[in-house]
Order: sequence, then structure tokens, then C-alpha cells
Amino acid sequence: MGGAKRVVAIPGEDAAAEAFSATMALLENFSLDIDWSYPLVGAAAIQMHGEAFPAQARAAIDESDAALFGATSGASAGALFYLRWGRQTFANVRPTRFTRGVESPLASPEGIDLVIVRENLEDLYVLSEGAVEDLAPLGLWSTTWQKPVVALGPGAYALKVITDRGCERVARFAFDLARRRKAQGRAGKVTCATKHNLLFRTDGLFREVAERVAGEYQDVELEVLIIDDFANRLVGRPQQFDVVLLPNLYGDVLSDAAAALAGGLGLAASGCYGSDYAYFEPVHGTAPDLERQRVNPTATILCAAMMLEYLEFGDAAQQLVAAVERVYAGGTSLTADQGGTASTDEFRDAVAAAVRSGG
Ligand code: IPM
Ligand code: MN
Repeated sequence: MGGAKRVVAIPGEDAAAEAFSATMALLENFSLDIDWSYPLVGAAAIQMHGEAFPAQARAAIDESDAALFGATSGASAGALFYLRWGRQTFANVRPTRFTRGVESPLASPEGIDLVIVRENLEDLYVLSEGAVEDLAPLGLWSTTWQKPVVALGPGAYALKVITDRGCERVARFAFDLARRRKAQGRAGKVTCATKHNLLFRTDGLFREVAERVAGEYQDVELEVLIIDDFANRLVGRPQQFDVVLLPNLYGDVLSDAAAALAGGLGLAASGCYGSDYAYFEPVHGTAPDLERQRVNPTATILCAAMMLEYLEFGDAAQQLVAAVERVYAGGTSLTADQGGTASTDEFRDAVAAAVRSGG
């Protein structure tokens, strides 16, 4: 990729937009060759173009190398769906790393350094639901109830779909990541957790493909766990994990749980990677209940750092992360979720000062 990188900025709603502008201000401290575009989505787009995700926004995404996304309360959901399913960003990467100074419910959180790789497009997220009655022509059988599914009575169903190709690309992504992390001194292990002891076909396939892909990576260890056991270990001794490969729904739920171990959602960043596109979005929502000027922008800042890494601005990414870590270690400019009294802007300024003094 030569020349300037093109990045779409979508702040999102409520408190997410506050965290977003603090992050954008911080990025101005680096002289980065980035062309930003700010397509209207959500409420502003409805006002201007009559729809929440207009063609202009879609075109801006298509013309860009990556996107930075605040979070959506629903108004920008069209953009989110396009960034995931439209751009096929199949690997949702959610790191949890304990940094000195962050709040943790654990007595000994030191050494937590794991990355959840969540399959991002399949599973229950194909979003195909319907009435149980509609299943009648299919004659589907319930193995546990030992009768046809329609005989359970009126209700609703949702489809869980897992494909060979979907498993394979995300498994490869996880193993590649584990290999890169091993080169930096980490364990070099992928833990794949599913409910394969019950869902033989769907989760069984996910596990099987992980095992097959593992054969191509002799230098990376594969650990296979049942998802309930994984949840227990995640809370009990998260230090045992390096890269964790999960189907979509488990990954969604357990990445929130993992975030709680090291600072909570205020610090949890994520990046969704496809084969030719990536977008970056904090794990948290828009926090409409939080007081705007007092939100913790760390998750969005760390998303920006992940994005800079992706766009090959590795030095700036490292400087930004190191500056955030120094602010936490210093402990004087932290936001309310971390036991401090700093406003969003005060935290931002402390990070900016740390960037300047870190050079
Ligand atoms: C997330 C969110 C989304 C998800 C919602 C907003 C659709 O919870 O990014 O984790 O379920 O993937
Ligand atoms: Mn979620």
C-alpha cells in the first residue's frame, strides 16, 4: 500500500462520540499520512439524505483502507452491518492485557495477556429466525426431546450456521496471530473452545477445522476445550491463555467477560479483519447512561492503535499504547470507572503529554 492511507471515521452515538473525538485529537499528535473521510450515518444521515446508511457512506467505506467506528445504539447499525458482512471482516480480534494501574476484580491479574479471535459472520449471527410452525415441512427432529421439533409447540427458532470456509479462514487467522505473538515471546498457543460435546455438527465442525488447520502450524500448540470449561478457566486463571479461537456467539459473550478482568469495557478494544479490509470498534456500546464528559476513551484510543498497526504505522501505534500505559501506571489522571476523577479531556491531555514526553 503506497501513498496516503484512506480511513473512514464514524463516531457513533451518545458517549461513544465523546470517546471518539478525544481519540481523533490524540491522533493529531502524530504526523500520519492519512486521508480521513467523515461520511454521515445514523440520525445525521437521515436528516441529510433520508436514510441511515446512504450510498455515499457505503462508497466512502469502499474507497477506504480501514474504518474507525465509535459504537452504535442502533442508528448506525446499517454501517456496522456493512462493515462486517458487506466487507467480510471475518476475524474479530479482542485483546485483554493487564496493565499496571487498571482496576481488576482478580487478586492477581498480573500477566493476563490473551487475545480472543471471534468468528465474526456466522453462527446465530446469520440472523435467520422464524416461527417453529414454519419448520413443519422440513420434518426436523429434536434429538433431546425425541420428537419432531414442531411438536414442541408454537414458538420461535434461530438458525446456527457454521461453514467449512468460515471456520477455515478464521482458524488460519488465529494460528497466524499465535505465530506472530510467539515470535514476540508469547506462548504460541491457540485455545479453541466450543460445545462440540453436544453440537456435534456445528461446533464439531468448528473444532474439526481448527484441528486440521493446526496440522499446518507445527510451531503453534492447539488446545481444545469445551466452552463451559473455558469460561471457568477464563475467570479462574486467565494467564493460561494466549490466542483463543471462538465461534461468534461465545466470542461475543466471553469477550465482554474477558474485558472485565483487566479494566472493564472502558479499555476493551477490538478490530475486525477481512482479507482486504479492516475496521476498528470498541467492545463497548454507546453508554447512553454515562455522563458525556466523563467517559473513558481508552478503548477507542486502543482501537486507533490497532488500526495504526494495521495501516503500517507501527511506531505511532506503539507510542500511543506506551503513552496510555504510562498514564495508567501514573494513576493521577484516570476516569471514574478506574477510580479517578478525570474528565475525558483531562485523560486525553494526560495521554497527549505522555506521547510528547515518551519520544
Ligand atoms: C459487539 C456487539 C454487537 C455484536 C452488536 C451491537 C450487534 O455486541 O460488537 O460485540 O453482538 O456483535
Ligand atoms: Mn458484544
